[in-house]
Amino acid sequence: MSTSYANRIKETVEFFKSKVKDTPSILAILGSGLSSALADGMTVELNIPYADIPNFPHSNVEGHAERMIFGTLKGVKVAVMQGRAHYYEGFDILDATLPIHALHIFGCKTLIVTNAAGGINAAFVPGDIMLMNDHINFMGVNPLRGVGNVNPKNVFPDMTNAYSKTLQQMATDVAKQLDIALKNGVYIALSGPSYETRAEVRAFRQWGADAVGMSTVPEVIVANYHKMQVLGLSCIANQAADLHPGGMSHAEVLKAMEGVQPKVVSFIAGVIERIGNASNPA
Ligand code: HPA
Repeated sequence: MSTSYANRIKETVEFFKSKVKDTPSILAILGSGLSSALADGMTVELNIPYADIPNFPHSNVEGHAERMIFGTLKGVKVAVMQGRAHYYEGFDILDATLPIHALHIFGCKTLIVTNAAGGINAAFVPGDIMLMNDHINFMGVNPLRGVGNVNPKNVFPDMTNAYSKTLQQMATDVAKQLDIALKNGVYIALSGPSYETRAEVRAFRQWGADAVGMSTVPEVIVANYHKMQVLGLSCIANQAADLHPGGMSHAEVLKAMEGVQPKVVSFIAGVIERIGNASNPA
């Protein structure tokens, strides 16, 4: 099991090596409803559907473009995943997170990860962007269970700084420049696909969670396994169940994400530029 997982990762890395000359240093994963616009500002080397990449899980959730784009954004070589495979779709968690292993081994040292989330913190409104300061893994799975010897040097990864302080500071600076009122908080991940009950949301608030969603945490755990620097952004699509005036719906989430997309995309582009400048000071 573990050897074949390592081999599958290797096969995916070899595929990237055969197709992409400009090795990316940053991987950006765009969540529900955020899939398209970042690519518009890129010089694209390769734009390929997940279905054409060996071992890449493909999702069928509305609002996901399911394409992988390699190219240059603001002078930085990036890999962009438009959409992700979710655990709630039935994927094995190892299959769902294979792209993170492969893209790290291919060259990505930094992960920028985005998601749509429900606002548990009563001060959050739809359209807010929350910098993920930390997370609570309440999915009931860990993506490193059964990972085998992919990174034998880090079998029990430290998660005390799962989200890079340096990147959080850079993101805070960029948000100020762009006049974006950035929120900060803790993201709790559930397996989904059902939304939360009101009682669950009340409980999560007491645990210290500010936003709730169904993704991201497995990717962040794998990134920490590889000692990547992680920046996480939650786009608040709705108020969580106990604050929500009506019933929850995926349509509401997609609509809110469409509205917030231009702000998030310019923000991510600004952060990528800042990371590029920091690693190549003039
Ligand atoms: N709960 C879980 N996942 C979500 C939500 C929510 O309220 N909004 C967007 N994704």
